[in-house]
Amino acid sequence: MTVRRKVAVLISGRGSNMQALVRACARPDYPAKIVLVLSNRADAAGLDFAREAGIATEVISHKDFPDRASFDAAMDAEIHRHGAGLVCLAGFMRLLDTVIIEAWRDRMINIHPSLLPSFRGLDTHERALEAGVKLAGCSVHFVRPDVDTGPIIAQAAVPVLPGDTPDSLAARILEQEHLIYPMALRLLAEGRVRVEGGRAVVDAPTATVSLRNPDLP
Ligand code: GAR
Repeated sequence: MTVRRKVAVLISGRGSNMQALVRACARPDYPAKIVLVLSNRADAAGLDFAREAGIATEVISHKDFPDRASFDAAMDAEIHRHGAGLVCLAGFMRLLDTVIIEAWRDRMINIHPSLLPSFRGLDTHERALEAGVKLAGCSVHFVRPDVDTGPIIAQAAVPVLPGDTPDSLAARILEQEHLIYPMALRLLAEGRVRVEGGRAVVDAPTATVSLRNPDLP
């Protein structure tokens, strides 16, 4: 029988990555189960999807707390109350304090829409286009106190095409996000990722989806 690790997913909006994780968790052999979808915004569209999927949801608004530390503490308590042992940030757009990040060290992962360490932070697609990169992509990584840093578990690359806009590039990357996030969570839940010397060592043939060159056989 598949042992399922309990996971809390933190969102702030649309929640399409959370939905990809929920769909993966519906597979009988998937080693994780989402026990909580937590949002800092009551109007996050992803909450409706989670509720309809029968998953416990909670809203903890950062606006109700005097500082980051007390907001984080409330979220941490809620995550524990639901028995989660792993945390996935999925479009969660609040910075977290070092205390909660260290408390969940190597058990909290994030997805970011760039090939890290390039283009950390916001407006990634705009900045990738401005820089004229020919490949863009997404990364799943362990969370560390510096934003969008941390050992990289999985990445996927997509081409940047002539005429791309931030939206068209974002859409191409998002398709890949929905593939690599469930893959990375599976690897973590199965205990096939360890951190050594600041890098994630992944016990899998590849945790990177690389482009096929159409000119090669
Ligand atoms: C995703 O593209 C995710 O990679 C990005 O926000 C979007 C959320 O979409 N996250 C970050 O930029 C974090 N630095 P979703 O709510 O549909 O999953």
